[in-house]
Amino acid sequence: MSDRPLNLKDSSEFALHDESRQGEALIIERPKQYSGRKLYIESYGCAMNFADSEIVASLMLDMGFETTAQYKEADVIFINTCSIRDNAEQRVRNRLREFSAAKKKRPGMTIGVLGCMAERLKSKFLEEEKLVDIVIGPDSYRDLPNLLSQADEGMRGVNVLLSREETYADISPVRLNSNGISAFVSIMRGCDNMCSFCVVPFTRGRERSRDPESIIREATELFEEGYREVTLLGQNVDSYQWEDRLNFAGLLELVAQIDPLLRVRFSTSHPKDITDEVLHTMNTYDNICNHIHLPVQSGNSRVLELMNRTYTREWYLERIDTIRRLIPECSISTDMIIGFCTETEQEHQDTLSLMDYVKFDFAYMYTYSERPGTLAAKRFEDDIPEEVKTRRFNEILKMQQACSLHRLEQHIGKIHRVLIDGFSKKSNQDFSGKTEHNITVVFPTNENNKRGDYVNVAIVRCTPATLIGQIIN
Ligand code: SAM
Ligand code: SF4
Ligand code: F3S
Repeated sequence: MSDRPLNLKDSSEFALHDESRQGEALIIERPKQYSGRKLYIESYGCAMNFADSEIVASLMLDMGFETTAQYKEADVIFINTCSIRDNAEQRVRNRLREFSAAKKKRPGMTIGVLGCMAERLKSKFLEEEKLVDIVIGPDSYRDLPNLLSQADEGMRGVNVLLSREETYADISPVRLNSNGISAFVSIMRGCDNMCSFCVVPFTRGRERSRDPESIIREATELFEEGYREVTLLGQNVDSYQWEDRLNFAGLLELVAQIDPLLRVRFSTSHPKDITDEVLHTMNTYDNICNHIHLPVQSGNSRVLELMNRTYTREWYLERIDTIRRLIPECSISTDMIIGFCTETEQEHQDTLSLMDYVKFDFAYMYTYSERPGTLAAKRFEDDIPEEVKTRRFNEILKMQQACSLHRLEQHIGKIHRVLIDGFSKKSNQDFSGKTEHNITVVFPTNENNKRGDYVNVAIVRCTPATLIGQIIN
């Protein structure tokens, strides 16, 4: 495999990555030199980052590490970071301060910064955070053995090479903090879309799809181990393409065919790319969950153009109407950015009116946070005052709460097939599980059922975010 770097390391001051070693199967040939040493790994950001931590854990276990839930007793602390908004980065910096204090008491400890913030800041991290030893970007995890042995010799290391090919397809993730029922399966990496607000294309590099055989193998193994739900992950799953023979609809079908008892979910769909073929495939297989996460970002076409989302309000609404026509029971969720550069009151009202029309089942809502290096940071002024962003955010939140409640209430009186994923947070007398719409349902336990079972639940009432019901025969 030849990796073509898009983004070379930056400073000669630190132990640097040896480019010729990219793609080598470093782990397999190494003795377990770290037997008995403990790894603590903490993850921030999107599901893809959490899935990456499971790949990192797999690489580390191969080297002999065992994981611990106590960072103070760890030999290596990894923090897998997110750069999507400024506050995501601040959380990481605060956490690093706590880790650094632990390292002062345990000088042999190695602290590594992984993921998107590592990629964005590169060796600047080592300058800014004196107690960080390793900075490693999302496409360079195979280089961990090198960087760790350099750290053992007292050298601090950076590898932030991005790759056009790396998908870690051959690595079996170690499931961290798993309920043993649901797992993420990455089907692609990177993003080619260049939405003007977004840092992801810079931190994750070019889009590439993972080979389907390895995806099917991973999902099949999960099913055989007792997992009952896989979520296929990518920043833009609809542009999954393997050579000229398999698109996302085809992949979805292959995963759905593994077993009718394996639920299949996917995220994230891009409104410009989601096809009717995918909707038809969802309809064909009962085990493909009727839920689509379709981030709209704004309800106004001028703002969408500034965001470089490449669709209009009308296009988005047409996609919604088509989903509702083809899959009437489908739940739809979204992401929204509030107070993007130059957004007027009327444009904000357009977002509210779009929400009122669609009535999303749930939504992730964010005030705009300018990210250095993005197209928006270069081209537009972040000119909406914080208090205006906050006021608009609260209006959007209020609207979404009303929409979520409206959608939840529609389930009352219905019977849903629920996959039990554990006990409710409040009581061991109640099970908790998910409907195919990705809605949590809480209902009394019984002796016959356990985690991983499907049960039919009659929905009797709801709270603002949860359905309450009872198992029926
Ligand atoms: N790939 C997905 C898509 O196209 O919608 C989403 C990826 S991003 C990890 C998740 C969400 O973060 C975005 O949908 C957007 O709402 C939000 N986001 C991204 N950049 C942001 C920024 N600069 N400020 C606020 N929210 C942002
Ligand atoms: Fe970011 Fe847009 Fe790519 Fe999503 S599609 S990751 S918002 S650039
Ligand atoms: Fe954050 Fe990177 Fe995901 S910026 S949202 S962790 S792709």
